[in-house]
Amino acid sequence: MTPSTQKPIFLTQFLIEEQRAIGEVKPDLRLLLEIVARACKRISIAVGKGALGGVLGDAGSDNVQGEAQKKLDVLSNDILMEANEWGGHLAALASEEMDEPVMIPSQYPKGGYLLLFDPLDGSSNIDVNISVGTIFSVLSCPPDHTLTPCEDDFLQPGVKQVAAGYTVYGPSTVLVLTIGNGVHQFTLDRELGSFVLTQSHIRIPEDTREFAINASNSRYWEAPVKRYIDECTAGKDGPRGKDFNMRWVASMVADVHRIITRGGVFMYPMDEKSREKGGKLRLMYEANPMSFIIEQAGGAATTGRERILDIQPSKLHQRVPVILGSKNEVERVTAYHKEG
Ligand code: AHG
Ligand code: MN
Ligand code: MN
Ligand code: MN
Repeated sequence: MTPSTQKPIFLTQFLIEEQRAIGEVKPDLRLLLEIVARACKRISIAVGKGALGGVLGDAGSDNVQGEAQKKLDVLSNDILMEANEWGGHLAALASEEMDEPVMIPSQYPKGGYLLLFDPLDGSSNIDVNISVGTIFSVLSCPPDHTLTPCEDDFLQPGVKQVAAGYTVYGPSTVLVLTIGNGVHQFTLDRELGSFVLTQSHIRIPEDTREFAINASNSRYWEAPVKRYIDECTAGKDGPRGKDFNMRWVASMVADVHRIITRGGVFMYPMDEKSREKGGKLRLMYEANPMSFIIEQAGGAATTGRERILDIQPSKLHQRVPVILGSKNEVERVTAYHKEG
């Protein structure tokens, strides 16, 4: 598609057409996704102001993950909360930045969905002007619990997600979305203030010559990950017979977006440093939505030992190892884990 010569398709029109075509996008889900997208526009504006908006630096508080919150972590969380609590499409919300799930206040109507989000992903990059983003996941609330949802209602495996998406606040702001019918990319037209469809039915190449891992943790890795990376870095004279390139932005949204765009494998594997916590990345706010998107684009996502989307969560802020991206590479790393 060449956006300059074709009539733009805005997010609203895209969702209405999906609703007609696949019949599975209920009006409530469409409206919920539009509210999330609107909140992301506000976050994009705040991120874009940088030092001029007074949004850089620490908030002076810690979150439930034990991380020092940045001002933008808190602001983005507030924006998503404010935008979503009155819409009438949700039973409850949960966030990386909030200890407990939040029920929709009694003055607002309740809906049938649960929204989970990582309001600002890549917070270590905020102050250095490198791409950050937002990740979100939508689940259905068990119908008999919509008026009185509880934490257990969120603990559904990733295969149950009805929608997932992320935004990248980079040189341009993009929104990547799946509602179970492929993966679609929208670019924010800053003049119009609207997300415009710029790529539909994205497919990730099955093979790649690019990997993303924080190599400073190599001394903590397990043997299968060490073996995989050693084989990649051995290049064309090694067992893989080709040279590999490495990239690590340290914003999952940006690293995953590169993989969505040109393939690659992303790993935050189990290691000795994060073993006690179960891994580094959060299952409900990072691993599940990204795995849904990656699988919908023809890629794969595992912990090294099992498919991420099959994991039955035991707690809201659960962490997991993550290996995702180009199918053949993810299957190779997973096979190395199985070989032991
Ligand atoms: P968040 O900013 O939401 O806490 O997430 C940060 C995550 C993820 O975006 C990234 O892939 C990873 O942490 C980077 O970790 P390292 O700093 O250990 O490389
Ligand atoms: Mn964080
Ligand atoms: Mn994150
Ligand atoms: Mn975050």
